[in-house]
Amino acid sequence: MNFMNVDYSTKIPNNVNLSEDRQVLKALEGWHPGYMDWWGDMGPEGFQQSLVYLRTAYSVDPRGWAKFDYVKMPEYRWGILLAPQEENRVIPFGENYGKPAWQEVPGEHRATLRRLIVIQGDTEPASVEQQRHLGKTAPSLYDLRNLFQVNVEEGRHLWAMVYLLQKYFGRDGREEADDLLRRRSGDADSPRMLGAFNEATPDWLSFFMFTYFTDRDGKMQLHSLAQSGFDPLSRTCRFMLTEEAHHMFVGETGISRVVQRTCEAMREAGITDPTDIAKVRALGVIDLPTIQKKLHLHYSLSLDLFGSEVSTNAANAFNAGIKGRYKETQIDDDHQLKNAIYPVLKLVDGVIKRVDEPALTALNMRLRDDYTQDCVKGLLRWNKVISTAGYQYKLTLPNVAFHRQIGEFKDIHATPEGVLIDDATWNARKSEWLPSTQDGDFIASLMKPVTEAGVYANWISPPKVGIDNKPGDFEYVKIET
Ligand SMILES: [Fe+2]
Ligand SMILES: [Fe+2]
Repeated sequence: MNFMNVDYSTKIPNNVNLSEDRQVLKALEGWHPGYMDWWGDMGPEGFQQSLVYLRTAYSVDPRGWAKFDYVKMPEYRWGILLAPQEENRVIPFGENYGKPAWQEVPGEHRATLRRLIVIQGDTEPASVEQQRHLGKTAPSLYDLRNLFQVNVEEGRHLWAMVYLLQKYFGRDGREEADDLLRRRSGDADSPRMLGAFNEATPDWLSFFMFTYFTDRDGKMQLHSLAQSGFDPLSRTCRFMLTEEAHHMFVGETGISRVVQRTCEAMREAGITDPTDIAKVRALGVIDLPTIQKKLHLHYSLSLDLFGSEVSTNAANAFNAGIKGRYKETQIDDDHQLKNAIYPVLKLVDGVIKRVDEPALTALNMRLRDDYTQDCVKGLLRWNKVISTAGYQYKLTLPNVAFHRQIGEFKDIHATPEGVLIDDATWNARKSEWLPSTQDGDFIASLMKPVTEAGVYANWISPPKVGIDNKPGDFEYVKIET
């Protein structure tokens, strides 16, 4: 069997030789109807009979793995795709550093591995649930198509984690796989496992912020798991990352296009002060201060996904060889962190300070720092759009102490600049920093669907290039009538 190519002759496309793995095939086929029910109930609302110009993975060759075609979403070929097995791969970190990577689950790490796979798996359907209403208000067919592409791929990522659970974790793996279809984003009784995945995604600016900031947390987690000594997990995550890149592209270019349109409209109207919110909003575009508030919200929610800054769980997963660091193999050190230290931001006597901690327990902090660095790139591009348009306004990331629910700063309040404030000040001023009900209502008032090919809502610029190099008036979604 050629690992590069995907077998589409079976009901479940795959490059893991499922047709000869009867037991796992049976388990997956048993899970499939429940997945389709979930997609029907919690997947995109409407458009299920529309023809959507989607990419489907046909190979795991990084040079050409996707094919584009019109597909009805329920007929999307969700498959199991793993990056090719690297010959003689060794565990690249931890106590088992340099030993051959595991092809089966090591018994002593079974529970930890299962937990990490379930947590990752839980985020995938959650985001589909959060985004299910957005199709009705898409600003263009291009954006509608991108939303659905992200949705079907998050669905595939769920399949990827379910495959690992069913193949390697026996009965409890199968139970976990069923539970992944049972939990619901925002549900009072059985919510999704992580906070940011229970928040609403009420409008398209939120969607772009989510794909930029929250999918990027996913990217960091997948990178760390791609280092795993458990080889099937590593291979699964490596392929998922190729799809994930598009999700963040959707976020980055989406925000960029919103900023662009706002600047254009302000210039045309002769507005010199971008903080004159009433004037800017009267143009039917989203003012930069409101974009900044949304950014504050989504960045801070996403920081919470990294967990506590100092964590023995993280240290244990690293020691065990299960979850490495971002770009572990490119780091020049002992890969065991025996005597290493890492500076952690902490609250010391009411002041935010950097404190040296053992690098092993500070792994969440390190990954979060890597994440923040990765986030900055988009801000540079968006700010370039603003300055090129002639405005002196800068979008910025808030201080990590701002609006946190997890970790060192969960019990205090801080301004976006990192100045500690009391409860009363926070309550009086938080709507300066986070989207208020009025902000939400204003954005919601702009969310009117545009379904004519090549036409874009007034609050967002067209993209610079089409998907799959298609021309500007390409009909990315053929909506059934
Ligand atoms: Fe994903
Ligand atoms: Fe994603």
